[in-house]
Amino acid sequence: MDFVVKSESLEKQRTGCIVVGVYEGGRLSPSAMALDTASGHAINAALSRGDLDGELGMTLLLPGIPNVAAERVLLVGLGPEDELVESSYHTALCAATRALSTTGAGEATLCINELPVNGRDAAWKIEQAVLAVTDTLYRFDKLKSAPPKQKRAVTTVVFHVADRPTVAAAGAVIDQAESIAAGITLARDLGNLPGNVCTPSYLADQARELGSVHGFEVTILDQAEIEKLGMNAILAVGKGSRQPPTLIVMAYHGGASDAQPVVLVGKGITFDTGGINVKSASEMDEMKFDMCGAASVFGALRAAALMKLPLNVVGIIPAAENMPDGNATRPGDVVTTMSGQTVEILDTDSEGRLVLADALTYAERYTPAVLVDVATLTGAVVTALGEIASGVFSNDDALVREVLAAGDRAWDRAWHLPLWHEYQDMFKSDIADFANVGPRGDCAITAACFLSRFTGRYPWVHLDIAGTASMTGEGKGATGRPVALLAHFLAGRSRQSPRS
Ligand code: BES
Ligand code: ZN
Ligand code: ZN
Repeated sequence: MDFVVKSESLEKQRTGCIVVGVYEGGRLSPSAMALDTASGHAINAALSRGDLDGELGMTLLLPGIPNVAAERVLLVGLGPEDELVESSYHTALCAATRALSTTGAGEATLCINELPVNGRDAAWKIEQAVLAVTDTLYRFDKLKSAPPKQKRAVTTVVFHVADRPTVAAAGAVIDQAESIAAGITLARDLGNLPGNVCTPSYLADQARELGSVHGFEVTILDQAEIEKLGMNAILAVGKGSRQPPTLIVMAYHGGASDAQPVVLVGKGITFDTGGINVKSASEMDEMKFDMCGAASVFGALRAAALMKLPLNVVGIIPAAENMPDGNATRPGDVVTTMSGQTVEILDTDSEGRLVLADALTYAERYTPAVLVDVATLTGAVVTALGEIASGVFSNDDALVREVLAAGDRAWDRAWHLPLWHEYQDMFKSDIADFANVGPRGDCAITAACFLSRFTGRYPWVHLDIAGTASMTGEGKGATGRPVALLAHFLAGRSRQSPRS
């Protein structure tokens, strides 16, 4: 998909379709008004026939209106004028994109970004439009023997802006948004692959491939090396599977050679059956998404490389498959983690925090400026925040503010949850240093507290993305979150650090 910017007068644009907004009650947006005037009120005529009342997300296609060079005009309902906020802006963009893809238009000119959206600036509106269009047109057809036939797809989206100076500024915003979109698409593709394809060794191959495309340094530790380093928590999780675990390290060097890196750690459980504490059958297939933290690290690294961020970033992925088997870890088994701390594995379904524990210890060798781990860690965070916000935990409040701001800017939002000391007492063990779950249940906070035991020496943020990384039900699939948040976080960091 090509995204370009033009400022020439709208009615003269030779394009497949111009997309303009109409508020509830029939009030026209400025571009809609311009086209209405040029066409001798063809738009108002359609509205007075009752074909569209401006309800949010409804669309009306008007082919060939007089004195307008575009082949079609697509009206999209915006809802009440005073209620156009970020979420309704998205709804309108997605509805317009869906409607466009049922037409024969190969090129479309979007004018919805001219509208005021809750105080958001022009760059925000363009970035979100690029992401919404890319997201809406995304298909995962790789595993279909015959991909479904599509109409002529939209291949170019033109943003209509007011004047020439805005054209250049918008071009830079589009470049950044396309980099983020490429990261999101990679994360969605990896996330959507089933467990029989996306195994730990498949992820390692993908890392090698990404490394060769973008010039990352890639190191893959195999089972023997994991053993040698004493990463017994990762080994314990992988023991029941025929697929050996791997530890994947990707390093992007965009900053000064001596600049401390941002380290991203992603949970890479390629399938989570629960192990011997096996999960119930219902919707277990969705546990193929349990490597979406890892997928988002791949995506963020790709976005960072495409944006050429002047920053060093290391991605670390502990990858394993959690299976029940004669050789699998039993509930009650005790392992010595790489940190030297011992853990009683009371529940084999609490495997994410185990693989992360060793990865967090391993990460110390990179002396992180900051470490962000990303994990589909707990069902409890889904209960707390649903599919809207990721949970954020940290040992550094200033860092939390940075992450929340990146999430807000990216519209990939997160919400701060506490790591108070009292929660640390909730997963004691009679025989080991501590257990991987508490006796009175478990929650997103105790899981984060468990991780905090392995993160002493650097500023650390944990993102629990169990609710946001994938959608269930209709539209089931990986969302690519929180790649956009991570990309904005990295971009913000790179503005703070000097170029090499
Ligand atoms: N992968 C799951 C968490 C999860 C749940 C992700 C729902 C996406 C949707 C994790 O490994 C897990 O099984 N956690 C358990 C922990 C419990 C056994 C203490 C959970 O949250 O139920
Ligand atoms: Zn689990
Ligand atoms: Zn899991």
